[in-house]
Amino acid sequence: MVAQVQPKQEEVKQETFAVGKNTFLLNGKPTVIKAAEIHYPRIPEPYWEQRIEMCKSLGMNTICIYIFWNLHEQKPDEFDFTGNKDLAKFCRLAQKHGMYVIVRPGPYVCAEWEMGGLPWWLLKKKDIKLRTLDPYYMERVGKFMNAVGKELADLQINRGGNIIMVQVENEYGSYGTDKPYVSAVRDAVVKAGFTDVPLFQCDWSSNFMNNALDGLLWTVNFGTGANIDNQFKKLKEMSPDAPLMCSEFWSGWFDHWGRKHETRDGATMVAGIKDMLDRNISFSLYMTHGGTTFGHWGGANNPAYSAMCSSYDYDAPISEAGWRTAKYHSLRNLLGSYLQPGETLSDAPVDYPVIGIPEIKFEQVAPLFTNLPAPKYSKDIQPMEQFDQGWGTILYRTKLPQAVVAGTTLKITEVHDWAQVYADGKLLARLDRRRGEYTLTLPALKAGTQLDILVEAMGRVNFDKSIHDRKGITEKVELVTNDQATELKNWTVYNLPVDYSFAKAKKYAKGKAQTMPAYYKATFSLDKVGDTFLNMESWGKGMIWVNGHAMGRFWEIGPQQTLFMPGCWLKEGENEIIVLDLKGPEKAAIEGVKKPVLDMLREKAPETHRKEGQTLKLGTEKAVAQGAFTAGNGWQEVKLATPTKGRYFCIEGLSSFDGTNVAAIAEFEVLGADGKPLPREAWKIAYADSEETRSGNRTADKIFDLQESTFWSTVDNAAYPHQLVIDMGKEYTVAGFRCLPRAEVGAPGQIKEYKVYVKTSSFTY
Ligand code: GLA
Ligand code: CA
Repeated sequence: MVAQVQPKQEEVKQETFAVGKNTFLLNGKPTVIKAAEIHYPRIPEPYWEQRIEMCKSLGMNTICIYIFWNLHEQKPDEFDFTGNKDLAKFCRLAQKHGMYVIVRPGPYVCAEWEMGGLPWWLLKKKDIKLRTLDPYYMERVGKFMNAVGKELADLQINRGGNIIMVQVENEYGSYGTDKPYVSAVRDAVVKAGFTDVPLFQCDWSSNFMNNALDGLLWTVNFGTGANIDNQFKKLKEMSPDAPLMCSEFWSGWFDHWGRKHETRDGATMVAGIKDMLDRNISFSLYMTHGGTTFGHWGGANNPAYSAMCSSYDYDAPISEAGWRTAKYHSLRNLLGSYLQPGETLSDAPVDYPVIGIPEIKFEQVAPLFTNLPAPKYSKDIQPMEQFDQGWGTILYRTKLPQAVVAGTTLKITEVHDWAQVYADGKLLARLDRRRGEYTLTLPALKAGTQLDILVEAMGRVNFDKSIHDRKGITEKVELVTNDQATELKNWTVYNLPVDYSFAKAKKYAKGKAQTMPAYYKATFSLDKVGDTFLNMESWGKGMIWVNGHAMGRFWEIGPQQTLFMPGCWLKEGENEIIVLDLKGPEKAAIEGVKKPVLDMLREKAPETHRKEGQTLKLGTEKAVAQGAFTAGNGWQEVKLATPTKGRYFCIEGLSSFDGTNVAAIAEFEVLGADGKPLPREAWKIAYADSEETRSGNRTADKIFDLQESTFWSTVDNAAYPHQLVIDMGKEYTVAGFRCLPRAEVGAPGQIKEYKVYVKTSSFTY
C-alpha cells in the first residue's frame, strides 16, 4: 500500500453563522447584524474598498448586497463577473475589512433597477409570466443561480468566506401568493450551492405570511419612522423563536424624474435604529450608501409610469459621491455607544479629491437622423425587444398611404416611454408616458408623407406586474377620424442602442447646438483627476458617456441636474465625452462642478388633484357606508351593507384619532363583488380636497402606488372633513374597501370617522 501523504493544511479561520433561539449565532455566540446595504454596480470598482471601509467606520459589521441578474447576463448564456461586476472580489474586499456579507441574488431584486434586475431578453417570449413557474423563466433562473453559485458558494462563512445569509426572491408578497414558485427559487438557490448558511425571505409585515416557507427565516422591511413593535407583531406570533431582523430599514427614498427630491429625517432614522438595537433586533440599512445608477440601469414605477433618476443618493448616511453626511455622524455616534467590550469604531478612510472642470464646449456633432444605422423592416409594429434591442432609442418610420385631413388623431398604443413624432422631418409633438400621452392631433398631411416616431426607452418598471414592460411601441399605431381607425403598417425600423461603441462610431463634424436629436463629442484635458459633478442644466434629455463609461441619463425637468463623475474614470491628459441629446441643448457645453444639484425641479406639473375653486358637493349624495376605523397601524377592511355599482368612489374622513387636522392614507383598495381588491392600473384621483406637496410622496395618488411607505396627506392647516375621490376607470360592483393608515408610530393622520360614497357618474364639484 502506498501511504497517502496529507498536504499540510493552511490554518483557515473557521467561522460559523446560524439562526438560534431568538438570536443569530456567530461562532456560537449571540450576535446582532448591523448591515449596510450598498450595491456594487452603483459604485465604481476602484472605490469599492473605500466605501466598504466607510460602512465599517460607521459602526456596521455586515455588508448587504443584491445581485443584478441583467447586469451579469446581458445576452443569454454570456455571463460576466469581471471588473465592476466581480462579485467575489467585492465580497473578499469586505472580508479583508472584517465585514460579513448578506447576499440577495433575486432573481428579482426591485431596487429601482431596470426591470427589477431581470434581463430584458426574457420579454422576447411573448407570453412569458415573470416571477412564476413559467418553465422558460424558471430554466433561466436556474442557470443564473448556478452561475452565481460558482462565484460565491465557496465564500460561505464555514468554508472560510464571509457570507452569512442568502435571501430567496424579494418581497414576493407584494407581487403575488405563490408558494410553489418561491419554493422553486429556494431550491435553485440551494442547488447553486448555498447549502451552508441560513436562507431567508424578506417581505412587508402586512403580507409576509402569504408566501412564508417553513425552514426559511422570515424578515420584514420598513422605513424610517415605522412602528417597530407593530412591524414584528404578526411575525412573533407566527414564529416565536425566530431572531428578529428588519432586512431593509429605509434611510431615505429614491428620486423620480419630474418629481420632488426626497429626503427623510435623520433623527427619526437614528431613533428607529436605536429602538431596534435596544431590543436586539438585527437590521440592514437600505441604503447606507446609495451611489449612482450609471448608464441605462435605472428602473421605473407604475402606475403612473415614472422613471428613476440616475442619482441613487437616497438621502443615505453616505452621499452619492461617498461623503459623510449629518446622518452618518449621528448614526456613528449611536452605533459607537452600542459596541461590545473590546470593540472600537474604525476611522473613516481618506476622502477622494473633488475637482471642478472648466466649461467643455462641444463642437463635434453627429445629427441622429443623418447617422442612422442599417434598417430592418416589419409589416406590423413591434416592441424593441422583437428587434433584438434591449435599451436605448428606436425609430419607427413609415409613409402615409393616403392623405390625412387636419384634425385626424394619431393614436399610439402605447408609447414606452418618450416619443417625438415628425412629419417629413418636422417635429409635430412629444409624447410622455408619465402623463399617459399616447395621441396627437395631426395637421393636414399629403399621401406619402414620411412619418417618423422616435421612441426613447427609459427604465423598465421594477415593481409589481408591470415589470412585463416592453419598450418602443408596444402594439400599434392608428389614424383615427370620426371613430374610424386605420392601422399604419410597413415600418422601417432603426435600432439606436446605448452602447458606447455605437455612439462613438457616429460621423461627427464641426457643428453647433441642434434642435433635433444629435450626438455631441468633445475632449478635455486634466492635469489632476478627482471626483466632479457634470452640470447638465443647459441640456435637454439623453445619455452621456465619459472615456467609454456610460454615466447616466439626464433630463432638463430635474430634480437631478448634475451627474456624479467619479475621478477614477477620468485621466490625466486627454479625456473624451459624448452626449446624446434627443431634444437638443440650449448651450452645448458642460462644466464640472464641486457640488451635486439633486433638487432642482424645472417642470411645472400640476401638483394637486383639485382644480382652482373646485369643491366637492356631497350635500345630496347618500353614503353607502359610514362608521369609524379602529385606532392603530395595519390594514382595516370594511364591507358595504349592500354591494353597489359605481365607477367613482369617495372616501370622506370626518375626524382624526390624533385630534389634528391631517388625514393620511398609505394604501387603499376597493373590493369587488367577490370580496377581492379591484385592479388599480386604471385608477385616477378625480379629487382630493387637500394635499401636501412639499414632499413628492404625499399626494393623493400615493394611495395606490403599491408602496406602503408612501401616503396621501392633507396639509396641516386645512380642517376636516377631508375627501378623496377615485375614478376607477370603469364601472364595478363595489362590496367594500380596505384602508392602510400611515405605517409610522401611532399612524399619524389616521382617519377616525368616515363616510363612503359610490357613484356611476361623476360627483359634482
Ligand atoms: C423595497 C425593495 C427594494 C427597494 C426598496 C425601495 O423594499 O425590496 O429593492 O426597491 O423597496 O427603495
Ligand atoms: Ca402608498
